Amino acid sequence: MKEIRIGLLGFGTIGTGVVKALQNNAELVSQRLGARLTLAKIADLDITTDRGVKVDPALLTTNAEEVISGDDIDIVIELIGGYEPARSFVLKAIENGKHIVTANKALLALHGEEIFAAAAANRVEVLFEASVGGGIPVISAIKENLGVNSFASVFGILNGTCNYILTRMTDEGADFSEVLKDAQANGYAEADPTFDIEGVDTAHKLALLISLCFGTKIDFDAIYSEGISGVSALDIQYARQFGYALKLLAISKYDAGRIEARVHPTMIPLQHPLADVSGVFNAVRLVGDFVGPVMLYGRGAGMEPTASAVCGDLMAIGRNILAGGASRSPAMGCPPETMSTLEIKGMEEIVSQYYLRFAATDQPGVLAHISGILGRYDISIASMIQPERKAGGPVPIVIMTHEALEKNVRSALAEIDQLDVVLNKSCFIRIESDLD
Ligand code: HSE
Repeated sequence: MKEIRIGLLGFGTIGTGVVKALQNNAELVSQRLGARLTLAKIADLDITTDRGVKVDPALLTTNAEEVISGDDIDIVIELIGGYEPARSFVLKAIENGKHIVTANKALLALHGEEIFAAAAANRVEVLFEASVGGGIPVISAIKENLGVNSFASVFGILNGTCNYILTRMTDEGADFSEVLKDAQANGYAEADPTFDIEGVDTAHKLALLISLCFGTKIDFDAIYSEGISGVSALDIQYARQFGYALKLLAISKYDAGRIEARVHPTMIPLQHPLADVSGVFNAVRLVGDFVGPVMLYGRGAGMEPTASAVCGDLMAIGRNILAGGASRSPAMGCPPETMSTLEIKGMEEIVSQYYLRFAATDQPGVLAHISGILGRYDISIASMIQPERKAGGPVPIVIMTHEALEKNVRSALAEIDQLDVVLNKSCFIRIESDLD
């Protein structure tokens, strides 16, 4: 039986999962592929820690060169994460004619153009199914099965850490910092969770989805991203009273030759399937002109699901090698020279419904002041609640608007925040009601 030889860069959690999967399901993989996937080298700075898997010590090295430049390696799996040295290692491996499988969304969101061009020039493949949605096969679905569709939108719950925190804040009424601490103690959140909770990880993943769905190069810095560290349990409770759940949503919509690209806490109707995506689960919802709405759901992170995606990519490349047709499928679904450069709309130009919360003094005329300013900025009120104030405290005023221009909402809130009767900076959260 033919053998396809694999080198692994990064023997962390996902790397360990890949080794386990290739060992536990070796027979199954060989049967399905008609070839053996052989792990030939594993490089990591730490080759002494026991990962709970049996590995021939002769496979382990601290020298990444043995993987990147090893004569007997067909496919390099990059699971180091981050920008450097991952970028240099991947580029060198490509130059050496190795195919690449990676889970590194940060690397591809910022340096994808360079890496994909190098791969095309060297006629090797770069697959990255594990980079978005963990075990959910969303990238191959967009590239292959949904390839005929023109996409109107892509939405995603793409960060398990944030979804876990928001789910617990919803279920327990707990505060953000309290749940984050607990999540870190239980190993659900990284010791430095900044990329996750500030929406950066989600924006990296959205960048890849946008590129795949709309065939465009991506200016990562033009993607708006706002995380969940400012979300309060109070807003989650009020959202529910209006019939909405709060999620960190990645949103992209096609609009007359331009796109929206944004990540922020978003209220979505409780009855929509995305509202039921709880805990560490992820989901991606796409709308294609022929297929209509499609939702893919599953485990978005973790050792086994992510290893499943990495191994699927290994098998896909393995099939191409066996067929003598490497580089069959361009990394982003279209060849680099046919990619367009769609402009990303500025946030002030977007139109959305809004949840607004003000803390005001309880006296006659306050509501008239606030609604007067909203009216002047063409912001129409859809519904409103004024929950009971606590003795002597400010009164919360919670307003849901009809669709309004974000520029107007920001200007109105800046003016409202100047009123003597408004005590704290007002809060606004965007709403996506029109999900089907
Ligand atoms: N840190 C990510 C998450 C998983 O919490 O979903 C890796 O992308």
